[in-house]
Amino acid sequence: MDIERFVDDCVTANTEADAQAAVLEVLERAVHRPRAMLQAVGEPTLADIDVMHRSKTLTIFSATWTPQMNLMPHNHLMWANIGIYTGREDNIMWRRTPDGIEASGATCLFEGDVAALSVDAIHSVTNPLRRFTGGIHIYGGDFFDTARSLWNPETLEEEPSDGDVIRRIFERENEQIGK
Ligand SMILES: [Fe+2]
Repeated sequence: MDIERFVDDCVTANTEADAQAAVLEVLERAVHRPRAMLQAVGEPTLADIDVMHRSKTLTIFSATWTPQMNLMPHNHLMWANIGIYTGREDNIMWRRTPDGIEASGATCLFEGDVAALSVDAIHSVTNPLRRFTGGIHIYGGDFFDTARSLWNPETLEEEPSDGDVIRRIFERENEQIGK
């Protein structure tokens, strides 16, 4: 697994008419052999976001979840592709209702699995395992420079979010496990 080559392939795929589908194909090939990706990015030891590429039209990072870490419902306001290279990531999908949001479905992503989320998708994420989960997350825009929303996990009230808010959640997670 050559990360530089992988990123280049994603950047090229992102110029195609159906950019999300083209990038998903590249991602699918990349996590098809999850161990090779794990070796390339390294065994996770922290909740972390390791950026591989960032531009106005594409963000690629490896995200690692601590054992049994949860992330509250949030949107991205851009398409998102996820590919898991170690562990497991469970997604609850949510939809907007006149009163807020409600759960509308779930997907379990195991090593080697990919998922494509639409521009208006809302999801919450759980690592159900007692070990780290790692995935490659690709977004059709600048993930860190887009104002969006998260939903309070107790009240489901909508609150502002962005890349920095998400980074702070990851930092708090590490503090909790004493890292
Ligand atoms: Fe997300």
